[in-house]
Amino acid sequence: MKQMILEGGHKLTGVIEISGSKNSAVALVPASLLTNGIIELDNVPEISDIDALIEILVFLGAKVIRKDKSMKIDCTNVQNKEIPEQISKRLRASYYFMGALLGKYKHVEMYFPGGCSIGKRPINFHLEGFEKLGAKVTVEGNKYIVKADELIGNDIYFDIASVGATINIMLAATYAKGVTTIHNAAKEPHVVNVAELLNKMGAKVTGAGSNEIQIEGVSTLGNAQIKVVPDYIEAGTYVIAGALCADHLKVRNLVPEHIVSLTKKLEEMGAKLEIGEDYICIQSVEHYQPTDIKTDVFPGFPTDLQQPFTPLLALAHGTSTINETIFENRYMHVPYLQEMGCKIKVLDKVAQIEGPTIFHARHVVATDLRAGASLILAGLVAEGVTTIEGIEHVLRGYENIVEKLIHVGAKISIQEIE
Ligand code: EPU
Repeated sequence: MKQMILEGGHKLTGVIEISGSKNSAVALVPASLLTNGIIELDNVPEISDIDALIEILVFLGAKVIRKDKSMKIDCTNVQNKEIPEQISKRLRASYYFMGALLGKYKHVEMYFPGGCSIGKRPINFHLEGFEKLGAKVTVEGNKYIVKADELIGNDIYFDIASVGATINIMLAATYAKGVTTIHNAAKEPHVVNVAELLNKMGAKVTGAGSNEIQIEGVSTLGNAQIKVVPDYIEAGTYVIAGALCADHLKVRNLVPEHIVSLTKKLEEMGAKLEIGEDYICIQSVEHYQPTDIKTDVFPGFPTDLQQPFTPLLALAHGTSTINETIFENRYMHVPYLQEMGCKIKVLDKVAQIEGPTIFHARHVVATDLRAGASLILAGLVAEGVTTIEGIEHVLRGYENIVEKLIHVGAKISIQEIE
């Protein structure tokens, strides 16, 4: 087990470079399997979720060469096999192998995916979508068997604009006969990035980034190269860190339009921001106004930034609220923030935060990826040394977080514990 040791009270100054998006890369890697050729991905983040996906690729027979941020996936000898449960349950994104293998082989057997425990996270939209394309879904305990004689394009409507289901149906429909239309599709930048890769491979996907996506089935796919888009959740996390405790922090290599929902809220609170073409400069101010946020699908305020944003709301003078509308269990960081001095009340989906807070260093536990990010940000402004257990969750999704924060002046390290 690993824990993070973090001495608070140091101002952040300098430049943080944003990595490739976790949620994009974890979809692009399984999407690569649709071809029998070679896919080259650039700007792939070095995070443990990608390591787990590579294990699956190799298990299925792909040859993977990874050098720095580039990854070459040779799918010439890939076979359709049942992915062992102990690998697939290590992360949520293993569910993308369902869409990719079903699309390519018309048959997939896979276990329920893992990922952060932030709610029930059913995959009914994925399965119903596969059925709409003509597949039959059978559940055997924890395992799904999805089979089709042939996949035929159809109209698919999601009750909620699910990121995972949108991408999975795009993957499954790429080789289907005819046209598939996804209504109420997710619009996140990673959905667009996956559509770009599919089109470079020879697929015919239109409308990605809007709420209606069309996929016209093709019969072959070839080689392609693509760059993973910058991670707007990582970017948002460091911009919030800057608002909390920066002298002058430049967060670079991001797409500012992807986090307008965050920067608008920061401006409303009184933050000092300079927004450039691919960077945001920020410095902390003495007095923040409280505000209210409601998480929503893109371009709304991302649920993934709700937890990292909480320490900043706790610093504001007055009462702020968070309304978490996407996941039903995304307040697991709150008891630990309370121990660090925050006054937070949670009632169902709404958290009420009473500021300002003087943060105290404590021993806390990261229960999930963004809960961990939230505790790190709180630790940066706490008096004393915070220790964070369960830091493996954070390493699943933030590339080189320790090195990046040390580079701008944080006093932070990771140690192995029993
Ligand atoms: N939902 C269903 N049925 C489904 C699919 C989703 O009811 O079949 C519900 C979910 O329970 C949730 C909502 O729809 O209430 C949205 O879920 P979505 O499918 O969009 O989320 P996801 O695919 O499970 C991805 C990211 C999450 C991110 C969400 C929302 C990956 C691997 N995961 O999850 O990332 O929070 O979209 O943007 O891309 C994270 O990075 O910390 C993280 C949890």
